[in-house]
Amino acid sequence: MAQAAVTEETRDASEEAARPLIKLEDVTKVFYTDEIETHALSGVHFDIRKGEYVSIEGPSGCGKSTLLSILGLLDTPSGGRYWLNGTPVEELDASQRARIRNREIGFIFQAFNLLGDLTVFENVELPLTYRTGLSKQERKRRVMEALERVRMAHRLRHYPSQLSGGQQQRVAVARALVGKPSILLADEPTGNLDSKNGQAVMALLSELHADGATICMVTHDPRYADYAERKIHMFDGRIVDEETLHRLREEEDRQIAEQARSARR
Ligand SMILES: Nc1ncnc2c1ncn2[C@@H]1O[C@H](COP(=O)(O)OP(=O)(O)O)[C@@H](O)[C@H]1O
Ligand SMILES: [Mg+2]
Repeated sequence: MAQAAVTEETRDASEEAARPLIKLEDVTKVFYTDEIETHALSGVHFDIRKGEYVSIEGPSGCGKSTLLSILGLLDTPSGGRYWLNGTPVEELDASQRARIRNREIGFIFQAFNLLGDLTVFENVELPLTYRTGLSKQERKRRVMEALERVRMAHRLRHYPSQLSGGQQQRVAVARALVGKPSILLADEPTGNLDSKNGQAVMALLSELHADGATICMVTHDPRYADYAERKIHMFDGRIVDEETLHRLREEEDRQIAEQARSARR
C-alpha cells in the first residue's frame, strides 16, 4: 500500500518536472476596431519550461506585447489553447483568472506603471494586499526582502516621481517579485531607460534567473536579447526561426526598395 503511494507520488513529481510551465497551441488574436480586423497573432505555438530565460524579439507591431499580455492573463486569445502550469486557462472564470494572475505572474512594463500616489513600500506591497491569510508583518517582511533584492530598500517612503527611471524600474521589478510568481514577464523593460540603467535592469534580471526565476522578456534590442538563454523571433503575428526571419526581412526590404523606385518614376 505504502509502496504504491510512493510510486504514484514519484510519477506525479516526474510528470510535473517534465511538463512545461507555459504551453501555447495555435494561439490567435484578432482585434476589431472600426470595421478593421487586425490579426495580431496568427497561430503561435510555444513552450516555456521552469527556470528558462526566454527572449522574444521582433519588429514593432509584430504581436510581442499581445503575446505577453495573453501569457500574463491580461488578455484572452481569440483561438487556440493555453496551459499555465498544466491548467487550461480558457476554462477559468474571471475570479479564478485574477487569482492565478496574482499568484503566478509577475509583470514588468516598459513604462514602469507604478502608482504615483503610493510610496515605494506601498507599490510593492499592493499585490500582496489582494491575498488572504497574509499577516501585516508577513507582508512587510516580503516587501523588504523584495526591495533589498533590487537594492531599493533605502527608498521606502519615496514616491515614484522622486526616483530616477532606473530606480522606478527596480521598484517595479520588486513589485513583480514580491508574490513569488512562477514566471516574470517583462515587456521591453529597458525601453524607457538610458543604456546605463537599461544594462543595470538587465543585470538584475540575469541575477534573478541565476537564482532560479523563469523569465520571458520582450525586446526589440538584439543586444539585450543576448542575455536570454533562448531567443524567439516573431514576425507578423507568428514565431519564426532565424533563417525564415532573414528571408522575410530581405523580402520586406526588397518591397520597400521597389515602392521607393516606383514612387520616383
Ligand atoms: N487593443 C488593440 N486594439 C486594436 N489593435 C491592437 C490592439 N493592441 C494591439 N493591436 C494591433 O496588433 C498588432 C500587434 O501589436 P503589439 O502586440 O502591440 O505589437 P508589438 O508589441 O510587437 O509592437 C499591431 O498591429 C497593433 O496595432
Ligand atoms: Mg509592444
